[in-house]
Amino acid sequence: MSKEKIKPAKSINGGIELPGDKSISHRYAMLAGLAEGISELRHFSAAADCHSTLACMKALGADVKVEKDFVRVTGHGLRESKRALDAGNSGTTMRLLAGILAGQTFASKLTGDASLQKRPMKRVVGPLREMGAQIHAREDNFAPLEIRGGRRLKAIDYAMPMASAQVKSAVLLAGLFADGVTTVTEPARTRDHTELALEEFGAKIERHGRTTKIHGLGGVGGQNVGPGFSLASPRLQARSLDVPGDLSSAVFFIAAASLFPESTLLIHNVGLNPTRTAILDVLLSMGAAISTPQLRSAHGEIVGDLAVTGTSLWGGVIEGGTIPLVIDELPMLAALGPYTEQGIEIRDAQELRVKESDRIAALAENLRRMGAQVEERPDGLKVSGRSAGKLHAAEIDPRGDHRIAMAFAVAALGAEGVTVIRDAECAAVSFPTFYAELKRLAER
Ligand code: S3P
Repeated sequence: MSKEKIKPAKSINGGIELPGDKSISHRYAMLAGLAEGISELRHFSAAADCHSTLACMKALGADVKVEKDFVRVTGHGLRESKRALDAGNSGTTMRLLAGILAGQTFASKLTGDASLQKRPMKRVVGPLREMGAQIHAREDNFAPLEIRGGRRLKAIDYAMPMASAQVKSAVLLAGLFADGVTTVTEPARTRDHTELALEEFGAKIERHGRTTKIHGLGGVGGQNVGPGFSLASPRLQARSLDVPGDLSSAVFFIAAASLFPESTLLIHNVGLNPTRTAILDVLLSMGAAISTPQLRSAHGEIVGDLAVTGTSLWGGVIEGGTIPLVIDELPMLAALGPYTEQGIEIRDAQELRVKESDRIAALAENLRRMGAQVEERPDGLKVSGRSAGKLHAAEIDPRGDHRIAMAFAVAALGAEGVTVIRDAECAAVSFPTFYAELKRLAER
């Protein structure tokens, strides 16, 4: 178990390019594995999670070659994996693949690490069963998932009970292999990378507000089998695509730069899909100084640079419909609380308790270790601002959760003394070079 020592900094200066977006990389890898032919995915994420997806696609018959700057995936139709598919720490891998595997001719078993085996899967198993999939889950909710396959899925109209991009994506991906048109309506808009990626790879998608329809390719495994399916039915086409930098990773550096008045940071080539940028609005409303000098579009996604200078943050309350839009960034926001004028309060975020760790408990415990004043609640927490006193160094236990480790490494930059992040290597789940980059940009 590696430990990382974080010393206080005076400012954050320079330029940084982030690993490719994790959400987009997962989707491109899966669809490239399903498509016929060679797809080249440039700036593919270095995150361990996305490499779990690549390993699963390889076990399912795709050829996967990881080069320095890109990943080449050659699809020739999926085939049964002899071993259980290991999603590692990645909820996205497990939930999205469950949708794809439900529509195949063969059986599959999906498993993951100890953290992933504790995370709820009923949210995807339920709608997939409605489509006719046969899935066995431990205690009907947890991995390993055994997916029987071999059945023609039927299209459904699914009104999602919760705002979750993973649930939406699982149903849409299963819909690709269903008879007819599958419709998914979400209670609030969530990230739409699956929809954009499906369109890029040639699937037929229609979108009206919070409703998305996908036309099935026809036949089990999309192989156009059986009566009623023409051999001319569309298949997914291999594509060469660029993955933008990960905005959720960028947020750790935006937060770090915001802590110090003398910071000037330029973050290059970041994904700025409007379903992901609510975090920038939240930070701007708290007084952060972030500008986006130029925007461009790439394969339906929006990409741009972010220029950040240091300021004084106000803090505030984050709640309601904003929560699903900033769910991955809440650990960083909470850990910024003690550096804000009014403190930060997070409400309506019970979902944080079933992420890679119980993030509410992990945040409360580690913030207290650094001397912050925290009120923990079932659905969030209230972190007092600057008037409650300066943070001091502590030994941080990230509970194996990458975003907790990174949030506290950033908080440590403004604290007194040298903070130790225990089990620090868990950051590699999304950002293998995180500490090296933070140290490179920190002026002391
Ligand atoms: C993700 C969706 C979100 C997010 C996760 C990645 C995705 O989860 O928290 O890190 O790539 O679809 P939910 O859909 O469960 O909210």
